[in-house]
Amino acid sequence: MFLLAAVAVLSGCGSNAAEPAKPAGDKPATDAGQSGKKLVVGFSQIGAESAWRTANTNSIKAEAEKRGIELKFSDAQQKQENQIKAIRSFIDQKVDVIAFAPVVETGWEPVLTEAKKAGIPVFVSDRRPQVPDDLYVTFLGADFIKEGQMAAEWLIKKTGGKAVIAELEGTTGSAPANDRKKGFAEAIAKYPDMKVVFSQTGDFKRANGKEVTEALLKSPVGNTINVIYAHNDDMALGAIQAIEAVGKKPGKDILVISIDGIKDAFVAMTEGKLNCTTECNPLLGPLLFDSIEKFKKGEKLEKRQIVPDGQFDETTAAKELPNRKY
Ligand code: AHR
Repeated sequence: MFLLAAVAVLSGCGSNAAEPAKPAGDKPATDAGQSGKKLVVGFSQIGAESAWRTANTNSIKAEAEKRGIELKFSDAQQKQENQIKAIRSFIDQKVDVIAFAPVVETGWEPVLTEAKKAGIPVFVSDRRPQVPDDLYVTFLGADFIKEGQMAAEWLIKKTGGKAVIAELEGTTGSAPANDRKKGFAEAIAKYPDMKVVFSQTGDFKRANGKEVTEALLKSPVGNTINVIYAHNDDMALGAIQAIEAVGKKPGKDILVISIDGIKDAFVAMTEGKLNCTTECNPLLGPLLFDSIEKFKKGEKLEKRQIVPDGQFDETTAAKELPNRKY
């Protein structure tokens, strides 16, 4: 039931996917509605590696403010050890709720067990950690495997199942890098003429996407590729710069496809330089704080709340561009 509500709030392709949900009420959220004191939430964010991440941070901060929730926000600069320190500090400060977006999948069990022992509920946003279910209340975010499949399906249709592909991977060990790789690989497996001949991390950053592609295009394998599949738009936009620098046409000589749906990707699609982006909605603030407030009122939440994806390409980008919110 709640999942359906979330799906309605964050619906994907072609709709106004970025529209935030309405807050649950006008009054500031309180500590379980008992003491009348403000609800205090500690949020450990991964960093500021991409435009997606910046939009995600803004959504969380804006939504907390709108609801009168005290947000203790910590930016880990893409380091797991910083996230673990931040979570420990939230435990020491006895916040009411801890929320976090795990930079990588593994290594969270000890610190989440400490939070559980301290009686502080944990909410997981965006990326999945590999921990037992009882260590968190709910995990809300996209289905990254499906995003990889959707990207592959678009490419299969476009190329008739024939492509020599270079893959720019996201942060090593992260759920979106693992899952977008897996979903894509599984979908192209039935097509013997589709091959990934190069795969390297660009850490979800534009500068790294550019650097990795520059090196690739100078290498012998660089001459053989006709597709770049990037795990996010920022790396794809960096790759586009590198392709142009060697005198080739991105979007034509080399097809470029990616994931996220940021505004710059739409601009690149209208210019014919990016061919397709699969949308991953970063505006998770409304769903996160709805979930926290429902939990505080004693309502039951689904363990997994999937935020749906959309997809846009050269044919739909221009119409959608004015609606983009991030
Ligand atoms: O976890 C979501 C991913 O993280 C986004 O696709 C990427 O841009 C970000 O850095």
